[in-house]
Amino acid sequence: MGRPSKEIGSVGVVGAGTMGSGIAQVAAAAGYEVLLSDQSSQALEAALGKIRHSLERVSRKEDRPSGWIGEVLGRIRPVTDLEGLTRADLVIEAVFEDRGAKTLLLERLGGLLPAETLLASNTSTIPITALAASSGRPGRFAGLHFFNPVPVMPLVELIPGLLSEEETLDLLEEFARRLGKETVRCKDRPGFIANRLLLPLLNGAIRLLDEGTAEAEAIDRAMTLGAAHPMGPLRLADLVGLDVVLHALESMHAELGEAALKPPPLLRRLVEAGRLGCKTGMGFYAY
Ligand code: 3HC
Repeated sequence: MGRPSKEIGSVGVVGAGTMGSGIAQVAAAAGYEVLLSDQSSQALEAALGKIRHSLERVSRKEDRPSGWIGEVLGRIRPVTDLEGLTRADLVIEAVFEDRGAKTLLLERLGGLLPAETLLASNTSTIPITALAASSGRPGRFAGLHFFNPVPVMPLVELIPGLLSEEETLDLLEEFARRLGKETVRCKDRPGFIANRLLLPLLNGAIRLLDEGTAEAEAIDRAMTLGAAHPMGPLRLADLVGLDVVLHALESMHAELGEAALKPPPLLRRLVEAGRLGCKTGMGFYAY
């Protein structure tokens, strides 16, 4: 059963893709019991493999004792049905960035989970207030936006919906703190802070490539060597996932209408061809 709102002990994560498995990993590493949910057991198996690999990197870096990886993995329970999430105190939605899919899922979760269970969405661009309404518990809902790769990036954006209760925000802030993350609070506006600034940059780099202004390597080198970015915008788009970039741009462009957010044809063609970046082995670069 879900616990009273004062304490988050177990966390459900819906969606075992890049972001969902990253969130499950950092929550388990912080000591939470994690229920990782996906429709397909193959996706869950693949996610656990990726989490193990990532934990090996963290373990080397932080010089963790032998047995640590097994302990962390032991706190993650894969579940293939949403009913398996009813004993979580907090459920984080991290499914594909599609408004219809997220709305449907949150309606189901809202009907299924005990009334006191907190719900959060890892959406990068879809309005939190609209998602909160779908969940039927807008007071106990907020946006909790992680960054890729989740085990490495220290930021979480905390986005209140119009009706989020202060207690919900405090609990989520404390949860993020326990994960070792820093939060920034931000109004429910398209792209929040980071993507509002980052997506036009990624889009601009894709447009430069599409227009033939420069080769991919040159565009990326210009930004790593000329602006001290840790990786170039095209490589970063590959890391984020070109489908995710496209959906985020479409969603922000629909609301803001800015030309800098309009996806160029090249991005659409790559997504149509299934070249989605690192996760499919091919995007602007081969992996
Ligand atoms: N799991 C665990 N550890 C990882 C990791 C992972 N998945 N990926 C990288 N690391 C660790 C490595 O172990 C390494 O540790 P070390 O320095 O102690 O050896 C460290 O991170 C650096 O990794 P690498 O040496 O492999 O490579 P880089 O130095 O190039 O760093 C990077 C990789 C951390 C990804 C860096 O290039 C970077 O910060 N890039 C920008 C990432 C970014 O901007 N993310 C935000 C994307 S936007 C987003 O997510 C929002 C969404 O809504 C779209």
